[in-house]
Amino acid sequence: MWTVLLLLGLAVLLLFKRRTRRRNEPPLDKGIIPWLGHALEFGKDAAKFLTRMKLKHGDIFTVRAAGQYITILLDSNCYDAVLSDVVSLDQISYAQSLMKRIFSLNLPSHNPESEKKRAKMYLQGDTLTQLCSSMQKNLNLLMTPSDKGLETSEWNKDGLFNLCYSLLFKTGYLTIFDAEKNNTAALTEIYEKFRQFDKLLPKLARTTVNKEEKQIASSAREELWKWLTQSCLDGKTGRQSWLGSYIQQLQDEGVDAETQRRAMLLQLWVTQGNTGPTAFWVMGYLLTHPEALRAVNDEIQCVKHLCPEEGRNHTPVFDSVLSETLRLTAAALITRQVMHDKTIRLSNGREYHLRRGDRLCVFPFISPQMDPEIHQQPEMFQFDRFLNADGSKKKDFFKQGVRVKYPSVPWGTKDNLCPGRHFAADAIKELVFTILTRFDLELCDKNAVLPLVDTSRYGFGVLQPAGDLEIRYRLRS
Ligand code: HEM
Repeated sequence: MWTVLLLLGLAVLLLFKRRTRRRNEPPLDKGIIPWLGHALEFGKDAAKFLTRMKLKHGDIFTVRAAGQYITILLDSNCYDAVLSDVVSLDQISYAQSLMKRIFSLNLPSHNPESEKKRAKMYLQGDTLTQLCSSMQKNLNLLMTPSDKGLETSEWNKDGLFNLCYSLLFKTGYLTIFDAEKNNTAALTEIYEKFRQFDKLLPKLARTTVNKEEKQIASSAREELWKWLTQSCLDGKTGRQSWLGSYIQQLQDEGVDAETQRRAMLLQLWVTQGNTGPTAFWVMGYLLTHPEALRAVNDEIQCVKHLCPEEGRNHTPVFDSVLSETLRLTAAALITRQVMHDKTIRLSNGREYHLRRGDRLCVFPFISPQMDPEIHQQPEMFQFDRFLNADGSKKKDFFKQGVRVKYPSVPWGTKDNLCPGRHFAADAIKELVFTILTRFDLELCDKNAVLPLVDTSRYGFGVLQPAGDLEIRYRLRS
């Protein structure tokens, strides 16, 4: 009797609380499973799921996932206008809940906006030039015989992803974290621990790690905190560097020592988590597209006669290859919490109400990056997609006759641009040019194709492959 009454009560409550679409709200798609909604499909392959929803509902719709209502906006011409309202759309609360889940880090004072501003000061102008020059030195150091054993006349076998990620990770770690250069074993150990942690990152974010994975992630985090404390928090890191000023800021805010060391891992991932994977895709596309490889090699021959500084700034072909690679692989979900009911206007003039308490997500990977109305055959790699016929950088792209604001959004939108983008692009270029000029590097299987992407990583920055691409390399004689 009591059970029946309880169930009846619950049913009435559910019916009463049932969410229905109100006037001027985006189409609502709750999925058939109560509370869970579309969570499983969303987490498994967000790109496939959101593309299906876009075909069904258009450029804006609200879905239910694990009890949360998420409005997805896919009209790239209005991203800037919508995201500029930082009062109604808050990025801090969601960022903080992710920090807790992934990095076991509680930083109530964290403010992504001021964070980006401070980082920007140190990642441009003279400090950027110094950082790039120290990055080049570190990369060279890692490619000398004593350090990595790379320079050998014999062929070496490796996975391309592992080679690119490990080299750029170690280079970035030495450069930004000012770590001890001669401890090769420690560098390798840090990279391996970082990869253990990085592989589990999407599951940590979705809280879907099992017991064993939880254990692996915790112990990798512990090890990394230990290493990073040694290299960053012992006072060696100059206060004039970005990381130094970050540590100073944490100390000024009264953040305790334990939280400071946890925050170092967050910074390690922010600065290293996307660069290595991007370098892998660039090299992978070049190795599987001979005409692109020829064009980049020709460009290297042309700039070789210029002074290094000038040469590095005149590489439109490589820049197009990088933009095209990022168009195909940069897949961050930009997420905001809706703090107040709000009306947004799409570029066709239609207005929609957003409901307080919901989330808003912008997914540039689907639009503009994979939008067939902007990019013909969007799933294909075309190395010259971002080049005009005269060889200059192509900036004009159109959708239904109207110029689109952005053909691609790998570094975030106007007010939320990645402050490290120039440094990242320079590091990737340096690695690719060094490999192409100093090494013979080829696919073990000449007919090999690029591995598929790991679909669980949609939403977490640059994609990673589900497998690796076997290559062999040797120092060019
Ligand atoms: C291919 C490599 C990279 C990509 C695609 C990338 C992309 C991004 C994106 C999309 C954001 C978020 C913007 C937003 O708030 O919406 C971001 C934030 C940021 N990036 Fe990058 N990034 C890369 C490499 C780097 C590097 C090498 C550095 C530093 C040297 C860096 C430093 C930062 C910082 C400090 C933030 C702000 C994080 C915060 O909110 O606290 N990034 N990046």
